Amino acid sequence: MILIGFMGSGKTTIGTMLANQRNVPFIDLDEYIVKQTGQSIPEIFDAIGEIGFREREFEALDSCINKDAIISTGGGIVTYDKSYIRLKNTNRKIIYLETPFDISYNRIKNDTNRPLVQMEKEKLKVIYESRLNLYQTLADCAINTEQTKSEIVHEINKIK
Ligand code: S3P
Repeated sequence: MILIGFMGSGKTTIGTMLANQRNVPFIDLDEYIVKQTGQSIPEIFDAIGEIGFREREFEALDSCINKDAIISTGGGIVTYDKSYIRLKNTNRKIIYLETPFDISYNRIKNDTNRPLVQMEKEKLKVIYESRLNLYQTLADCAINTEQTKSEIVHEINKIK
């Protein structure tokens, strides 16, 4: 199972809960990239730019996509064609954690570990909106995250 959605939609939290419950590994692609490169996400953005990061992210996705694990992706993975196509062609279940912009923004606004959050709120909202269709078209199922964590996990567990 692969979780997609904007930053602050709860992919890591929900992914960890699902993995613990199912007794399978949890893979957070951001963490995977940080471990592989020995650099933080902001350091990678500084060194090789967003495009360089997206390529690393694709490589991480490609290495992990067939593992029997719950995989949490970075919010921007859908914007990179190679990653989008890889996700489009997988037969793993893709779950979109759907969260209104303001809720996501309030969770992430002070996070210095997310380079894109350093931009103005209105600009980030444009990015959010430009991604909605990509999340929708990739997902087998969208889950509204305006409910408790255990309700979200329960909804996901109902998906066949
Ligand atoms: C990004 C989301 C981040 C991380 C990077 C870029 C994005 O992951 O991959 O900062 O473009 O939305 P999370 O969605 O896990 O925060």
